[in-house]
Amino acid sequence: MSPAMNPAMNPALNVIEIIQCKRDGGTLTPEQIRWVIGRYAADDIPDYQMSALVMAVFKEGLNADELAAWVDAMLRSGDVLDFSHVAAPKIDKHSTGGVGDKVSLPLGPMVAACGVAVPMMSGRGLGHTGGTLDKLEAIPGFRTALDPPEFRALLAQTGLVLAGQSETLVPADRRLYALRDATGTVESIPLISSSIMSKKMAEGLDGLVLDVKVGRGAFMKRPEESRTLAETMVGIGRSYGTPVRAVLTDMNQPLGCEVGNACEVAESIEVLRGGGPADLLEVTYRLGEEMLLLGGTAADRREARTRLERAVSSGAAFEKLVEVVEAQGGDPAVIHDPTLLPAAPHHHEVAAARSGYLTRCDALDLGVAAMRLGAGRERKEDSIDPGVGLRILAKVGDAVEAGQPLIRLAWADRARLDQALPLVERALEIGEERVAPPPLIHGEVS
Ligand code: URA
Repeated sequence: MSPAMNPAMNPALNVIEIIQCKRDGGTLTPEQIRWVIGRYAADDIPDYQMSALVMAVFKEGLNADELAAWVDAMLRSGDVLDFSHVAAPKIDKHSTGGVGDKVSLPLGPMVAACGVAVPMMSGRGLGHTGGTLDKLEAIPGFRTALDPPEFRALLAQTGLVLAGQSETLVPADRRLYALRDATGTVESIPLISSSIMSKKMAEGLDGLVLDVKVGRGAFMKRPEESRTLAETMVGIGRSYGTPVRAVLTDMNQPLGCEVGNACEVAESIEVLRGGGPADLLEVTYRLGEEMLLLGGTAADRREARTRLERAVSSGAAFEKLVEVVEAQGGDPAVIHDPTLLPAAPHHHEVAAARSGYLTRCDALDLGVAAMRLGAGRERKEDSIDPGVGLRILAKVGDAVEAGQPLIRLAWADRARLDQALPLVERALEIGEERVAPPPLIHGEVS
């Protein structure tokens, strides 16, 4: 019998007592937290006990000392990376997840073209939110699974790596996140902040920019909650001596005009070619400015903006994406000609039922609709269709005419289309009075 199952072996470190303590609103000691996370990562504590503990944390929270111990225990469950062989400042960006949030794809090349090294470790989409890895894999041949030596070598070579988390980085989070996903315990500030920050602190960064989403399509629906999440993560970064800046950005309606995988790659390429929708540009440039400032390669936001714009207008950022795609095994032809990306065979348009102003374009419903079409996964083991998705043809505040197409669905499977359509229809609302579009930037925390 393992110590976790046998209280007699160490009465101070007993999983049932730890669960009961948190369930009853008590405070766990750092030793208890280290032990329970370590034993869970080592597979010595079963999922049913960890689910009970995580639910107790979800309900009762963690105080500052408990949270610090929780993050540290997660971080120590695996390897810590070292990119000291790369002279440039190493700055990553992480988003708490949204719909149409393809910012990492244009941002990484733009920032790397300005001389900041970007070791970007991204995740997959789950539920209504998309994931950078799934989008990248719409590029034929692109490899997102890199082992640490290859990751290190590519970062030195290109200054930008777009990859998934390696097996050995924070293995406790790998198990815990899957467990939380299956037990309704994702939307918790201590659990989200410890999950994200343990992984980011294990990357050995010089700085981190967080895009904390706010609104219907975000984990945190209310601005106060997302600010608390941002403050918590910035505080964790500070405790590790890593500068972290968080920007709170809107996720009430999807970002940009494309929701899916191949279509989001195409929209990102458009940004790198000097085009792209205004909201996507605003968020991308704003996060890029923060990354250059944290990397010490620009004196102020204005200079940072000018450098990023020049990286785009000179073609350097586009060429950086081509270089990274080639380095990671992808077909660069699709970057030069995005019409070669996977595409769905059929289209269906949802039109405005009446004239007026678009007052709602709900990110949550549209994210779920895209998932139902096959652009995302309901369960971890589901596969993705890179060609399906949604094109948003009108945004909140736009005047619309009866019969005008508002959303174009790219679909491959009729049954999936039938599941997605009611959600798309529900997501849209037309009113008589014009409403102002929601502010894109809700604030910042540093
Ligand atoms: N992203 C993560 O990595 N973890 C969470 O808990 C939520 C979003």
